[in-house]
Amino acid sequence: MFTLDQVVPWGRSFDEYRRMFALTDEELGLRIIGCGDGPASFNAEATRRGTRVVSCDPIYRYDAEQIRSRIESTYSQILDQTRQNLDEFVWTSIRSVDELGAVRMAAMNDFLADYAAGKAQARYIDAELPSLPFPDLSFDLALCSHLLFLYTTQLGEVFHEGAIRDMCRVASEVRIFPLLALGATSSPLVERMVASFGRQGYRVSIETVPYEFQRGGNGMMRIRR
Ligand SMILES: C[S@@+](CC[C@H](N)C(=O)[O-])C[C@H]1O[C@@H](n2cnc3c(N)ncnc32)[C@H](O)[C@@H]1O
Repeated sequence: MFTLDQVVPWGRSFDEYRRMFALTDEELGLRIIGCGDGPASFNAEATRRGTRVVSCDPIYRYDAEQIRSRIESTYSQILDQTRQNLDEFVWTSIRSVDELGAVRMAAMNDFLADYAAGKAQARYIDAELPSLPFPDLSFDLALCSHLLFLYTTQLGEVFHEGAIRDMCRVASEVRIFPLLALGATSSPLVERMVASFGRQGYRVSIETVPYEFQRGGNGMMRIRR
């Protein structure tokens, strides 16, 4: 049973998504599904720019006020943890913990302002991996940011297999970022997923992208039919 107190809401911006997934202007014309988008502002800003994005997350069963209140109760705790682990991050694009807080809060406020309209337009769907409620190949591109591999220990190998398989079912291409677990440590599941989906006939590659905040975390997995 998924509950809001299990989630630490933390949302990234459209610009960060574009760099994490090396999205080109042409790719922003594709049908995109974001899996585990949470309070990121990718959907809000992409929609304003004319991109068709559907975001799925179990957090979307809650209303804006519930999500806002969860953001408010966890925000300082996340920044404190970041302050205690400064070396795990690269402070070039975002230069300080305070700036990080401001950037994340701006993205989450943008999400919250768009949430009611996005729900009415079926752009925010209460759904969770590994079972997405969409027919096969409903999308060109499935993105997953800061869920798979990041929570390697918590989610486990069976979940990763099932989640990636379902993203490959609903979209012709899947991209996952980052490939590091929490604590900026390497995830043993990366190699296992490369091997497993390679054996199943997919083309799997690991590419360097123009985004690195977790130190060493500038690798993205691309899986194609
Ligand atoms: C760390 S946040 C990342 C949010 C966003 N993708 C970003 O990068 O800014 C992880 C998100 O995964 C969502 N999540 C947890 N379990 C999930 C599942 N089984 N399927 C889809 N999303 C899930 C959480 O609700 C949360 O919003």
